[in-house]
Amino acid sequence: MKLTQRPRRNRKNQQIRDLTAETHLLPQHLIYPVFVCEGSNVESPIKTLAGQSRWSPDLLSKKVAQWKKLGLTHFALFPQISEDKKNSRGTEALNDNGLLPNTIKRLKDDHADICLITDVALDPFSSDGHDGIVENGRILNDESVEILAEMSLKQAEWGTDWVAPSDMMDGRIGAIRKKLDQTGYTETNILAYTAKYASSFYGPFRDALQSAPKFGDKKTYQMDPRNIKEAVREAKLDLSEGADMIMVKPGLPYLDVIARLKRISDVPVAAYNVSGEYAMIKAAAAAGALDENRAILEVMTSFRRAGSDAILTYFAPQVAELLRQ
Ligand code: PBG
Repeated sequence: MKLTQRPRRNRKNQQIRDLTAETHLLPQHLIYPVFVCEGSNVESPIKTLAGQSRWSPDLLSKKVAQWKKLGLTHFALFPQISEDKKNSRGTEALNDNGLLPNTIKRLKDDHADICLITDVALDPFSSDGHDGIVENGRILNDESVEILAEMSLKQAEWGTDWVAPSDMMDGRIGAIRKKLDQTGYTETNILAYTAKYASSFYGPFRDALQSAPKFGDKKTYQMDPRNIKEAVREAKLDLSEGADMIMVKPGLPYLDVIARLKRISDVPVAAYNVSGEYAMIKAAAAAGALDENRAILEVMTSFRRAGSDAILTYFAPQVAELLRQ
């Protein structure tokens, strides 16, 4: 064949492939979501999230010391609240002596060089298992936003670096930014869950926190998987309201959304490789269907290729370890 164009030339050997690689993955791109539980010296494995546990703050701090050595710098905290502390207004979310503030304090005391991301939504604290306030079976928007802004201020006072509203109420980014600015927390970042879909992939997470909705589903606030223009609309709102980073969630089934938002965003874009996506790969690997390490590096690379600056993933330590080798 008389071909002048032979793309295979650039795939000839590892050196050329490395020189021409378009996408790079580093430990600093990873954010590790971790589950926290009450007590001391507790590691409580999560059945549907093979290899992941809930940690008491003291043990978590020891683990962070190890994960830091792998180059991880960002941790997203998810507290498991006992059923007797939950109520319809999620008041435990504002408790200055609660599990979350204690964990932030412990980690920040022990590690000056890490950044913490804390979740802003009521579901782990709510007896209804919904992200906002429920009244007569409906999720109230404006009343919920007020509490979420209150919750964000508390988290800022407790020393978080990023507040991350995962609730999908309308107007919450603006309300949170305003509340933080009025109280002097102008340096607290907001990571907005911008395009969070009503997904079947959150199962293991809800298991880990026992936070599944007690009735109905989350479709009146989380997005419809059929939509992408709506994600653009949400992104424009979050950007105009002051988000410092926007996020797409879940990750793998929504790579098109990541790519689209990357084009219009003037702040970094994150992908959340959620619990069900993690469980899927773990199960396939355990069944001998694929090579786990290769699969997770491929998945992480696909997030970066699609346009994700940051990746929240339960694979973070495993990926960081692989990148070191
Ligand atoms: C809730 C929240 C969820 C996740 C993160 N924050 C679950 C939900 O919306 O029901 C899911 C993360 C995962 O599955 O890994 N505000």
